[in-house]
Amino acid sequence: MKCRVYVTRRIPEPGLETLRQEFHDVLVNPTNHSLSREELLEKVAGIDGLLCMLNDRIDVDLLKATPDLRGIANYAVGYNNIDVAEATRRGIPVSNTPGVLTDATADLAWALLMALTRRIVEGDAFVRRGDFKGWAPMLLIGGDIAGRTLGIVGAGRIGTAMALRSKGFNMDVLYCSQEMNEILEMELGARKVDKATLIRESDFISLHVPLTDETEHFIGASEFKMMKHTAFLINTSRGPVVDEAALVEALRNDEIAGAGLDVFEEEPKVHPGLNELKNIVMAPHIGSATIETRSKMAVMAAENLIAMLKGEKPENCVNPDVLE
Ligand code: GLV
Ligand code: GLV
Repeated sequence: MKCRVYVTRRIPEPGLETLRQEFHDVLVNPTNHSLSREELLEKVAGIDGLLCMLNDRIDVDLLKATPDLRGIANYAVGYNNIDVAEATRRGIPVSNTPGVLTDATADLAWALLMALTRRIVEGDAFVRRGDFKGWAPMLLIGGDIAGRTLGIVGAGRIGTAMALRSKGFNMDVLYCSQEMNEILEMELGARKVDKATLIRESDFISLHVPLTDETEHFIGASEFKMMKHTAFLINTSRGPVVDEAALVEALRNDEIAGAGLDVFEEEPKVHPGLNELKNIVMAPHIGSATIETRSKMAVMAAENLIAMLKGEKPENCVNPDVLE
C-alpha cells in the first residue's frame, strides 16, 4: 500500500517487519529516546498511520497537525495518552494491545508484592554493601503472604490473572469491579465488595483499572487512613490512579506497610520523598517488558494499523463506532 506510517520508537523487529511487508513507507524514530513534542509534531506531518507509545500524547493539536491520519495503533493496552473522543470526532480509529500482556503484567505485580513483603531489594543492597555478617534471627524480617487477604481493584484481564496467581498462596480474595467476575468467584471463592470494604480488609491491594476521570486518585489520603497499618499497595496500572503525594505521607507516617510501584504519577518523574523511603520497591514501568510479550504487542499493533489503513476493522479497536 502506498501509505506513510510513523513508528515513534523502535519496537521489536517482527512488528516492523509486518509493517514493511504492507507499506511503502515505514518511518521509525531511529533514536533511543522519546521524541520531544516538537520533534513528534514535525515527524507526523503528512502521515497516514501512526504507531505510538504510551508516553506519546496524542491530543487535539497533534490530530490537527495530521489531517491525513487514518489510524492510530497504541503500543500498550492502556490508551489514556490518546484523546479518543477527538480521534472519534475526526473519524480516526484507535487500537490498543489487550490480552498479550496480561500474564507479564500480572507476573510483575506479584514480583513487586513478593519483593516488598520479603524485603528482597533491601536484602540485595545489604549483601552488596558487605553488611552480611552471618545468619541472624531478626535479620530483615518480613511478613507472610499465605493465608492473607488480596484485594483486586479492577477485575479485568490483568486483575483476574493477578488474582488467579494467588491460588498457591491460599489467600482470601476480594475484588472491586463494575461487573461480577465469575472466574474469580468460581476458582477462588473471591467476593465482590464495595471499595471501602476492600480498602479496609485487604492485606495487599493491587490496582488494575485503566486511568479515567473516575479512577484518577482512586487511592488517596482518606483511603490510606482506612487501610490496615500492615497493608501493602501494588500499582502496575497507571500512576495517577494513586495520589503520590498522599502515598509519601502515608509511608512516612507508617499508615501503611509499604508500596510496590511500576508506574508514577508524572512519569518519568518520581515524587519527591519516594526515593528516600525504605518500605517501597519501584520499577520503571516494565509491566509488559518481556521479550515474548513485547514481540506480540509489536505484531498486534502492526496488524491493527494495517487493518485500519485498509479501511477494515482492526481486531482491537477501542472506538469501533467510527467504522460503522
Ligand atoms: C502498559 O502500561 C500498557 O498499558 O500496555
Ligand atoms: C487489560 O488488559 C485488562 O483488562 O486488565
